[in-house]
Amino acid sequence: MSVLIRSIGVHIPERRMTNDELVGRVDTTDEWIRSHTGIGARHIAADGSQTSDLAADAARKALEKAGIGPKELDFILVATATSDYLGFPSTACIVQDKIGAHGCPAFDITAGCTGFIYALDVASSMLEAKNGRHCLVIGAETLTRVSDWSDRATCVLFGDGAGAVVLSRIDEGGRGIIKSILGADGGGHQDLVLTQAARTKTFENPNPIHPFIAMNGKNVYNFAVKSITVLVERILHASAYNLSDFRWIVPHQANARIVQAAAKRLGLPEERFYMNMEEYANTSAASIPIALHEMSQKDLLKSGDLIMLLGFGAGLTFGGTVIRW
Ligand code: UT7
Repeated sequence: MSVLIRSIGVHIPERRMTNDELVGRVDTTDEWIRSHTGIGARHIAADGSQTSDLAADAARKALEKAGIGPKELDFILVATATSDYLGFPSTACIVQDKIGAHGCPAFDITAGCTGFIYALDVASSMLEAKNGRHCLVIGAETLTRVSDWSDRATCVLFGDGAGAVVLSRIDEGGRGIIKSILGADGGGHQDLVLTQAARTKTFENPNPIHPFIAMNGKNVYNFAVKSITVLVERILHASAYNLSDFRWIVPHQANARIVQAAAKRLGLPEERFYMNMEEYANTSAASIPIALHEMSQKDLLKSGDLIMLLGFGAGLTFGGTVIRW
């Protein structure tokens, strides 16, 4: 018995904003952004569309590819830092309604940019523990709505998008999710926050500013490089694999320099890490499913390939998943 990723769907907003378009609005240059992050563009969600719209579109595409109807789902998980509503209801419940999957459990997972990795582990464990058949795991974000456009050190980093996978439990073994390692260092929780300004609405302050992303870039950078190297070492230690067994390592797409620094520490060629932040920037919980979708479109993922997914982000959280494709 195993749990495998049966299909992937994405929603990439049509509106594409290059670095050059930012120049003028933000005190930055294409050269700075590219050389410090590897980012060349980001996609911006259409006015009026919510995170749940992006998520539902990605979900419908994944279900269609899998040939599975919404009523066949055992549950829906959405990993997001930018839910439609603050706190409740969950974005997963709104997605459930939008795709017509009424009745099944639906809830959100909050683990910053590691959200998709956390959600995969929770979902595969639930499918196994409850003898489920199929579920949806979605990473979806509208981060440009909560970017602080007066802070050049953060606003250039983020983009919008969604990626959804259908996870299915199948009877044969050999393929699917093999291992997950999750962790968190809550001592760094203040290094990357979506501020709670909106909650400070009071009688004296009836018009609070909206929440926005605030980050200690250096701390997060150091944490991210360390997380990737520590996760890889822990995964190898806990499994029978060598690094050379892995066809691809798919990291969270935050910054090419983070990946390059980790690759150097691990003594691995950078080409073994799949990167596409140049086109999408950092889409937080959506970045790994968007990368997997692109890889599968390019026919880079062959049945039987061993791959490793690696996430890191707010919390501070980190997590890795080993999959036999
Ligand atoms: O998903 C996890 C989320 N976050 C991350 O993964 C981000 C982790 N951190 C990073 O990737 C990096 O810390 C950044 C890309 C955010 C910043 O790179 P850095 O090399 O650490 O730059 P810095 O903050 O040390 O700033 C260097 C200079 C500063 O100017 P001065 O003080 O040296 O004159 C900044 O003001 O670069 C300046 N700067 C910029 N200049 C042009 C910062 N942002 C920009 C910008 N354009 N967008």
